[in-house]
Amino acid sequence: MKEHIQALLEQTVLTLQQQGKLPSELAPRIQVDRTKDKSHGDLATNLALLLAKPAGQNPRVLAQLLQENLPASELVAKTELAGPGFINFFLDSQWLGRQIDAMVADDRANIPVAEHAQTIVVDYSAPNVAKEMHVGHLRSSVIGDAVVRTLEFLGHKVIRANHIGDWGTQFGMLIAHLEELEKENPEVADSGLADLEQFYRESKQKYDADPVFAERARQYVVKLQGGDDYCLTMWQKLVNITLKHNQEIYDRLNVSLTPEHVMGESMYNPILADIVADLQAKGLAVEDQGAIVVYLDEYKNKDGDPMGVIVRKKDGGFLYTTTDIACAKYRYEQLHADRVLYFIDSRQHQHLMQAWSIVHKAGYVPETVSLEHHAFGMMLGKDGRPFKTRSGGTVRLVDLLDEAQERAAALLATKDTDFSEDEKTDIARRVAMAAVKYADLSKSRTTDYIFDWDNMLSFEGNTAPYLQYAYTRVQSIFRRSGIVSDANLQGQVILTAPAEEALAQKLVQFNDTIKSVADKGLPHLMCLYLYELSGAFMSFYEACPINKEGVSVAERDSRLRLCAATAKVLNLGLSLLGIETLERM
Ligand code: ARG
Repeated sequence: MKEHIQALLEQTVLTLQQQGKLPSELAPRIQVDRTKDKSHGDLATNLALLLAKPAGQNPRVLAQLLQENLPASELVAKTELAGPGFINFFLDSQWLGRQIDAMVADDRANIPVAEHAQTIVVDYSAPNVAKEMHVGHLRSSVIGDAVVRTLEFLGHKVIRANHIGDWGTQFGMLIAHLEELEKENPEVADSGLADLEQFYRESKQKYDADPVFAERARQYVVKLQGGDDYCLTMWQKLVNITLKHNQEIYDRLNVSLTPEHVMGESMYNPILADIVADLQAKGLAVEDQGAIVVYLDEYKNKDGDPMGVIVRKKDGGFLYTTTDIACAKYRYEQLHADRVLYFIDSRQHQHLMQAWSIVHKAGYVPETVSLEHHAFGMMLGKDGRPFKTRSGGTVRLVDLLDEAQERAAALLATKDTDFSEDEKTDIARRVAMAAVKYADLSKSRTTDYIFDWDNMLSFEGNTAPYLQYAYTRVQSIFRRSGIVSDANLQGQVILTAPAEEALAQKLVQFNDTIKSVADKGLPHLMCLYLYELSGAFMSFYEACPINKEGVSVAERDSRLRLCAATAKVLNLGLSLLGIETLERM
């Protein structure tokens, strides 16, 4: 919608330029916004205010000139001038009605695919091997996956990249510890190590306490880096165990990652030496006390000198930054990415900026390919401090999901329903997973967010249970009306009551919302939209009866169609967020 109005305005400017009524060098960025107050129309533009100065004209006069020259459009019923030079657009309600009918008739709710399909690599989740996933990985996984689903829906070629932390000196001690455990129980790796956190802790304790163990661990690091078969096999076992743990979490959370999407840090090992050599050859990297360093002018240290980014340590080891340089290069050269989205903690922002600055200077990725850090803040407890267990440890994701399910089950048990025990368990599971995901998705991701059980499981407010419940409400209307599928719907949408019009308006904003999520990587925009849509639906349902006496057949048909469009958009919108709906709850 916005785009359509934008196009109309663009055409108007062009016409006026051709007629010499506007200076030809002007190329304004036309902005069209939704109005807050419907008496001012549905959409508005400040174009005249924007152009007034460069065109040397009075904004009000210019607004009128634009208005008079707007081409006719079936979308627009009328336009009005307002304030110092705004143009307000009133959408045509017949056109709107036809849009809703088209949404009902189409599986994709009439949402077109993107005009230019791109190859988009999305780097998300990325937990570390031999560690449990923790709440920080929840944010990356859930937000990244919502954006992945949205981009795919728009027809882009999406490459999921799970950049797991599967390399580093810690593997020496982990291998040495696994070796000892295997002596006691040869099946230990197959049985999957119930608690990775504990395994990691024990390895570290031995490493710190036992010099013989520590020496063996150090030798294993060297051997592993040298490609030793035994060490690689042991390493692979640790990777596989971790992937199995993670997969359980992804499946429970309905995150669309599988082991196929793993592109871990170790994948880039073979090209790191060449990259460092190339950076040196290009004069970007220099030797400094045995280490190889890139000095970046745009990053200054405390003394105002260019900051050094180490790409190879004195002992020959490579760093996290070296890997991310190689990784960006690979994603452009081998995966042919047009866009690369990184969903990573905001604390890693400087790290990424430095890596990409080197990537650009070295010419590994052209500036036309967009490398985007979609940063997010920390998850905080109700007390405003980082979310921790009672004893101060990091919260394992499994424990968090278990607790969510218990709480949802307890909550649902208080409601008077006729569900069987199995059904109750299933509903509790779906509500719980949806609630945890939605709580995260619905907050603007750039800030820290407070994790609050009571809030997220509430049936009121911008929560998953509220939206899931809204969806079941529509389903029950269908059941009562004898509608089993969209094919049963009759008639057409005719918008008369203000609540009908408002609901239809909201429904057609779905397209713009999907686009914003895809462009900005901000799923909370979808959450907010679905929440507002549910609100518009509830108001409509209160104001416009369906199965009551006195409602004409045409009205009933039209309203049922509005219900069908709402159900479709809720279901589709939630599915783009990776959240399941329920038929009854
Ligand atoms: N493994 C890292 C962590 O747990 C995240 C990796 C993100 N991706 C990347 N290309 N650096 O913090």
